[in-house]
Amino acid sequence: MDLGIAGRTAICAGASRGMGKASALALAREGVNIVLSARGEERLRAAAGEIAAATGVTVTPVVADHSTVEGRAALQAACPAPDMLVITCSPPGVTNDFRDIAVADWQASLDTSFLAPVELMRLFIDGMVDRGFGRIVNIATVAAKFPSVPRLLSGPSRSALHNYAVAVSKVVAKDNVIVNTLLPGMFLTENLIATLEAQAKAKGVPYDEERDKYVGRFRVPAAKFGAPEDVGALAAMLCSRYASYVVGQSLVIDGGLINGLF
Ligand SMILES: NC(=O)c1ccc[n+]([C@@H]2O[C@H](COP(=O)([O-])OP(=O)(O)OC[C@H]3O[C@@H](n4cnc5c(N)ncnc54)[C@H](OP(=O)(O)O)[C@@H]3O)[C@@H](O)[C@H]2O)c1
Repeated sequence: MDLGIAGRTAICAGASRGMGKASALALAREGVNIVLSARGEERLRAAAGEIAAATGVTVTPVVADHSTVEGRAALQAACPAPDMLVITCSPPGVTNDFRDIAVADWQASLDTSFLAPVELMRLFIDGMVDRGFGRIVNIATVAAKFPSVPRLLSGPSRSALHNYAVAVSKVVAKDNVIVNTLLPGMFLTENLIATLEAQAKAKGVPYDEERDKYVGRFRVPAAKFGAPEDVGALAAMLCSRYASYVVGQSLVIDGGLINGLF
């Protein structure tokens, strides 16, 4: 299906690997020019080259930490009038005991996974309204909806983010600016692959065996981890011309792991 967005421009913030990169690639395959950002320059340039070579669109890498005012300004300078924003970051660290979380930990979590997307939206949304087209997708976490102690530095800030996104989505939907949130569950990204490889090596078992055991332990109904491409395709769909009536929604992508009706 042609998503009807060829020739448009997307800022993919936090996109040199994982789900952000997969979203950039999915959009680039639709003919969308990409402004790609991350903090680490080497991996960012490699990802930009890879996406450009695979799709033929223009991919502009911008080294920027979007948890900072300067990083967001760098993105705005590189691309003052994007049609789309796809925003994510790395998963914040896991907490074993809620008592261990210090104020500085909360501040870092809020800066990166709440204030960064809020401020990016605020920077670009009026231009989208004026131009009569905008698509914003925040890639957050299923922990926003299903709390657990290990994900305390990830879930609460994304619950707040989605609260903000829904409120804003209702103001700008009439101008064809559409804001939605994706909530991924367990995904086989580079971090997890490295962890599983190390565990497999330490136990002297094959990687596939360790991976499958891990999935089995969590009883994921789809019997596998998600792939970043699964999220990328949905992000592109929510950026499509046809998503104009999907307003302020959150979509869990977790292989059926969470047991809930709505
Ligand atoms: N992986 C999972 O299983 C899983 C499960 C549930 C939810 N999630 C959520 O899904 C989202 C994406 O996770 P992922 O696994 O795809 O992450 P990832 O593989 O670590 O990729 C994150 C990307 O964002 C960049 N980034 C991180 N912090 C940044 C910042 N402050 N400014 C600019 N760029 C930044 C990283 O590059 P640099 O480090 O170079 O900046 C990298 O390109 C996160 O919200 C995470 O909480 C992931």
